[in-house]
Amino acid sequence: MVSYKELGLVNTREMFAKAIKGGYAIPAFNFNNMEQLQAIIKAAAETKSPVILQVSKGARNYANQTLLRYMAQGAVEYAKELGWEHPQICLHLDHGDSFELCKSCVDFGFSSVMIDASSLPYEENIALTKKVVEYAHQFDVTVEAELGVLAGVEDEVSSAVSHYTKPEEVVDFATRTGCDSLAISIGTSHGAYKFTPEQCTRDPKTGRLVPPPLAFDVLDAIMEQLPGFPIVLHGSSSVPQEYVDMINQYGGKLPDAVGIPEEQLRKAAKSAVCKINIDSDSRLAFTAAVRKVFAEKPGEFDPRKYCGPARDLMEELYKHKIINVLGSDGKA
Ligand code: G3H
Ligand code: 13P
Ligand code: ZN
Repeated sequence: MVSYKELGLVNTREMFAKAIKGGYAIPAFNFNNMEQLQAIIKAAAETKSPVILQVSKGARNYANQTLLRYMAQGAVEYAKELGWEHPQICLHLDHGDSFELCKSCVDFGFSSVMIDASSLPYEENIALTKKVVEYAHQFDVTVEAELGVLAGVEDEVSSAVSHYTKPEEVVDFATRTGCDSLAISIGTSHGAYKFTPEQCTRDPKTGRLVPPPLAFDVLDAIMEQLPGFPIVLHGSSSVPQEYVDMINQYGGKLPDAVGIPEEQLRKAAKSAVCKINIDSDSRLAFTAAVRKVFAEKPGEFDPRKYCGPARDLMEELYKHKIINVLGSDGKA
């Protein structure tokens, strides 16, 4: 058993309370490798933003759970080395799909876990979430739960259509489970194809897809039911068109990739939405930078020469999100 407190990590409780009060959101960035972690920590340290490092089940399998835990511990020390005296870094399990996985993360030094039982029937979602909360709270680990189903793929949980969270269920769910935050479905989804071209209109000037707005009426109704309760938005990448263009220009193929417009995320960040999940944008930045090097310097075979530019582009992306979208800079 390793306590996250010994690793210098923090849970989400205080972060979220401050974010709701202050009208900003905490960035939750996924990481799978050293370059992503370096870029996240550098961006957070230089902007003095609290940050949530997210590890999915897939990331845990890819990078090895022991290594990931030490990487997170190393991230705290790296942040201090960068001049961030009291780093506010949370290590969070993204889309935990079983009690055993959540327990293993709690036991392994995570400061926060998500139990995603949103694909189960309502009562089963409550029962599993409650079981995770009861275990995690013994160690002061915070728990995110999910109600409603996002369109697209949620790790191994897949759904072709989204089912918005039902505002009439949230009080019962939060009370009976004791969860610390609630991920909701209001039209976001995972990946780089959040909407089909049929769901969008096209900007006549640029030819770009313009996605439909998020269901802010559902968010408002949820906030009315649960005033001041921390709300989480998954699937919140914006799919920056400059990265999509770079990827396509240098031999990739991402036709009609589309994300959530930043002005909608800015609006959400000012509300009770206090955690915004971003993974795909970082993948796009990484891929765009690597493709550019490969296309321009076909003789290059030193990974530092293409992972380095990828890291720089991701750092720029994270800083942009922190400063211009979530407003979490200077809050840690
Ligand atoms: O919500 C899903 C995250 O983007 C993690 O994706 O399961 O491929 O690591 P992953
Ligand atoms: P994106 O695919 O929009 O980056 O969402 C990531 C996410 O929700 C991780 O849980
Ligand atoms: Zn997610």
